[in-house]
Amino acid sequence: MLREKYKTEIEEILSRYPVKRSALLPLLYLAQREAGYISEEAMQEIAGLLRLTPPQVYETATFYTMLNLKPVGKFHLQVCKSLMCALVGSDTLIGWLEKKLGIKSGETSKDGLFTLSKVECLGACGTGPMMQINDDYYERLTEEKVDRILADLKRDGTSALKTGPFMWPEPNGAKP
Ligand code: FES
Repeated sequence: MLREKYKTEIEEILSRYPVKRSALLPLLYLAQREAGYISEEAMQEIAGLLRLTPPQVYETATFYTMLNLKPVGKFHLQVCKSLMCALVGSDTLIGWLEKKLGIKSGETSKDGLFTLSKVECLGACGTGPMMQINDDYYERLTEEKVDRILADLKRDGTSALKTGPFMWPEPNGAKP
C-alpha cells in the first residue's frame, strides 16, 4: 500500500495543492516509481486519497503514454513518432530496435530487459530521431549509436550517450 510506505511523501505532495485532485499526476508517478507501472490497486488507492472515483483516475492514467499500465522491462525505450522525428527517420529507428531486440512495439524482450513503445512528441524535435529510455533522452540517433546504447545498457545499466533532456536550443557544447 502506497499510503503506508510513502506516508510522508504523500503528505508533502498533497500539501502542495489547495485542490486535492491536482495531486493526481504526482501520485500516479509515485505509484509508477514504486512498481514500474500503475496497477489497478494503486489507482483505487489514489482515488481514495483524492476522493475521486476510480474511473476518474483511470481516464487520466490512460491518457498519458509516460504512465505505464502494465509491467515494463528494466529499460523502457520510448521512441518519438511525431512529425519532426518521423521526418528524420523515427520509423527506421523503430525498425532497427524491433530487429535488434526481437520484439514489436508494445512488447518486452524475453529477458525482461527491454520494452519498446512508440510515443508522441517528447519536446526534443530539433534533435531527432530520438528516444527516451527510462528518465534519459538519446538524440540524433544512428544505427551505430543504437548498437552502442543497447550494449552499454546490457553491460553497465546506463550509457554515456544519454543527452538531456534539453530545451531547444541545446546548451553550448552539447551537440554530439
Ligand atoms: S517530434 Fe520528436 S521530440 Fe518532438
